[in-house]
Amino acid sequence: MSKDAHENVITLAIETSCDETSVAVMKNGREVLSNIVASQIDQHQKYGGVVPEVASRKHIENINQVIERALREADLTFEALTHVAVTYGPGLVGALLVGLSAAKAIAFARGIPLNGVNHIEGHIYANFIEHKELEPPFMCLIVSGGHTHLIYMKNYGDYEVLGKTRDDAAGETFDKIGRALGLRYPGGPEIDKLSKKGNKEAIRFPKAYLERESHDFSFSGLKSSVLNYLNSEKMKGRKVNIEDVAASFQQSVIEILVEKTIKCAIEKQAPLIVLAGGVAANTGLRELMKKECFRNGLELRYPSIKLCTDNAAMIGCAGYYNYISGRFSDLHLNAKSNLKFENRKT
Ligand code: KG4
Ligand code: ZN
Repeated sequence: MSKDAHENVITLAIETSCDETSVAVMKNGREVLSNIVASQIDQHQKYGGVVPEVASRKHIENINQVIERALREADLTFEALTHVAVTYGPGLVGALLVGLSAAKAIAFARGIPLNGVNHIEGHIYANFIEHKELEPPFMCLIVSGGHTHLIYMKNYGDYEVLGKTRDDAAGETFDKIGRALGLRYPGGPEIDKLSKKGNKEAIRFPKAYLERESHDFSFSGLKSSVLNYLNSEKMKGRKVNIEDVAASFQQSVIEILVEKTIKCAIEKQAPLIVLAGGVAANTGLRELMKKECFRNGLELRYPSIKLCTDNAAMIGCAGYYNYISGRFSDLHLNAKSNLKFENRKT
């Protein structure tokens, strides 16, 4: 297909993999005409985490209204759409199915192409929306509630997974420690705030490097060590300084994330590092990565906070690049809760 055939592609993008019902309208992949994020956090906070059944029900209640809002804000109607992109995994299966059914219905009714997008790939593309000059290759650290991946993006749609977590994801670890500290769900942003008031050197929590050559991560040992520390202080009747615990825990997580990312960038001779996912909103991670990139002569990009966490604009952007490279999904596309990055179809 010629490049002209891809001008004025208007994508309706849908993201419902977890607890955000999000719909965006995008022009030519990188221009956001609207990006509505209806968060369900209030519904899940009382349970201390996302309840899958509640998430699915809320997505069903919200999806049509959020689609209408996204179109209204973009000042467009269904007739103007030329393409649909939707997250089909990984995520909560019941939640994914709501967005996927809506996307397939629109693609079918309008007779327009559909692209199923891997959620992790979507996080990477959040960077292309705000950094207009950004082009691969680069080294990307994707850190969210469900994923921790080090991916070398060679070109659009062409990736090499260098490392990932062997147990908990970075965001999941933040959320579990947040819960142990009695903080609101999600714990990540709360720990980030508390850390600013604490001493990051107060407690030395361990960092897992794994085998010498491995680029994988492991956070379960660190998590246990923080929980053991909290228990042992409680048994001794000591009052815990939660700002210091938050700052020391956060420091352990971000040091390992930064060290491994820089090492991979140097190994791959990638001059640029890109951050993505909810944990990329972390102030400490951004600062330390900035400092280390500067020290190693590397460039750094990350999205603004609203594009770090789950949103449909990033899915629309990834879907667009899949679409212009000639990859499509058909209407048999199904939700895949444990979809691996390596097994993307489109
Ligand atoms: O990307 P995201 O919205 O959803 C997933 O794909 O999982 O990421 C949500 C995760 C949560 O674990 C949340 O605690 C974490 O991102 N998070 C943060 C911060 N903001 C969000 N973690 C650390 N510091 C933050 N400022
Ligand atoms: Zn996400």
